[in-house]
Amino acid sequence: MDRDSLKLGLSLMLLAVTPVVTFMSFDLRQEKAQKKDPEVSYTKDIVPIIQKHCISCHSSDEERPSELYMDTYEMLMKGGRHGKCISPGNAKESILYQKIQPDPPFGRWMPPPKKLKLTPEQVDLFRLWIDQGATNN
Ligand code: HEC
Repeated sequence: MDRDSLKLGLSLMLLAVTPVVTFMSFDLRQEKAQKKDPEVSYTKDIVPIIQKHCISCHSSDEERPSELYMDTYEMLMKGGRHGKCISPGNAKESILYQKIQPDPPFGRWMPPPKKLKLTPEQVDLFRLWIDQGATNN
C-alpha cells in the first residue's frame, strides 16, 4: 500500500467514525439531562407517597388538626389552616415543601413519626412536581 492510499484509507475511516462518536455523545448528553429532571406525575409518583406517609393524618374522614386534607388533588391544592400549601412552579415558597424539611417555619417536620419519614428521593419528587407546575398529571 503506498502512502496516498494509506492516507485516503485513514481519512475514510475518520469520516465513518466521526458521526458515530458525535451521535453517541449526543445520546449521552440527552440521557444525562433526562436523569437530572424526570417528569414527575401526580398520580404515579405523588399519590403513592401521600397514601403511605401522609393520608393517615391528612384525610377528611375525620376532622384533623391541620385542616389539610389530601384525599384528592383539589383538596390538596386548597390547602389547610395556613392557606394554600402549594405555589405551583415554586417549591421553595410552598408550605408543603417547607414542612417536609427539618426546620419548618411553624409546627413540626412532616411526617412527624420517624417510621413515616420520607427518603431524600421522595422529598425531591415533591420539589420537582411543584417546580414543574404541580399539575394533576
Ligand atoms: C402523624 C400524623 C401526621 C402525618 C403522618 C403527617 N402530618 Fe402533616 N400535620 C400533622 C399535624 C398534627 C399538623 C399541624 C401541626 C403542625 O403544623 O406541625 C400538620 C400540618 C401539616 C401542614 C401544614 C398545614 C397548614 O396549613 O397548617 C402540612 C403542609 C403538612 N402537615 C404536610 C404533610 C405531608 C406532606 C405529610 C406526608 C409526607 C404529612 N403532613 C404527614 C400531622 C401529620
